[in-house]
Amino acid sequence: MAASDFTNRLTAVATETEALLDRLLDGAVLPGETARPLRLLEAMRWSALGSGKRLRPFLVVETAALFGAARDGALLAGCALELLHCYSLVHDDLPAMDNDDLRRGRPTVHRAFDEATAILAGDTLQTLAFDIMARDEVHGEPRVRIALVRELARAAGLGGMAGGQMLDLSAEGRFETKRALTEPEIVTLQAMKTGALIRFACNAGAILGQAGAPSRASIERYGAAIGQAFQIADDLLDVEGDSAQLGKAAGKDVAAGKATLVAVLSIAGARARLDHLIAEADAALAPFGAKADTLRATARFIAERQS
Ligand code: IPE
Ligand code: IPE
Ligand code: MG
Ligand code: MG
Ligand code: MG
Repeated sequence: MAASDFTNRLTAVATETEALLDRLLDGAVLPGETARPLRLLEAMRWSALGSGKRLRPFLVVETAALFGAARDGALLAGCALELLHCYSLVHDDLPAMDNDDLRRGRPTVHRAFDEATAILAGDTLQTLAFDIMARDEVHGEPRVRIALVRELARAAGLGGMAGGQMLDLSAEGRFETKRALTEPEIVTLQAMKTGALIRFACNAGAILGQAGAPSRASIERYGAAIGQAFQIADDLLDVEGDSAQLGKAAGKDVAAGKATLVAVLSIAGARARLDHLIAEADAALAPFGAKADTLRATARFIAERQS
């Protein structure tokens, strides 16, 4: 697939995601009789609207397309996941966590508003995500919607993103004496904090398309490879990237004592691991032939992205 075709597809989903999130985050999220905590809604909108690669919704839409599921439902499920991702970013940036002032090229929510509002905005972005994922318009079959809600809860929770964030902070030596994590420990930490939501994005398309077990296993394998690749690329960009282009501060991981594969394998070793993971993602997609070309291009995009 030509790079321009991939960019057009990603841009199309990002544009549709932005428009849909804008509608989902209008005053209608508030029930009629509720007093309107508009500051909180504004903080949610600050976090969720304006930019972001929208890679997770893109993965939902493209895997759903692979399995013949309706695009509208996939986009809505993708928006639910994006809201959950935005919550994870708001909390990740808090002073008590990574303490960042810049996100997606503008002040983080706790800088633009205040810390209490940012905590609550994270909470309500998360609950709205589950509200949306459970809606009839996501899929006509209640069992499918329950599976999506359950898998999203697991990907976000103790054994997924939030648990991984805990391991990430622990590795800084905040709660116990600092000790260098082994490579397998870092792989596990990253499979949780970042990989879980990316694997879910891929699995969501298979759930929506009610794919059979062999296809699900292939997509799970693909999702695991690109999830790992995604955080390695993020960690390389922290070392080599430029804050203006990234839209977030670079060069913070070493100072914070973050456990990354770049620290353990060196830059060259991390790049070699990325290449290996992209080959692994390609191998996982072999059963789907040319129908999976966009997902192949997505894996390369993840490895080569500059922001
Ligand atoms: C950043 O995610 C947080 C990580 C999991 C590394 P993205 O790089 O997808 O951020 P946005 O959504 O494009 O801003
Ligand atoms: C964040 O990892 C993972 C999340 C669950 C949000 P990072 O802390 O490296 O993400 P950035 O670099 O702040 O986007
Ligand atoms: Mg972090
Ligand atoms: Mg961070
Ligand atoms: Mg990072």
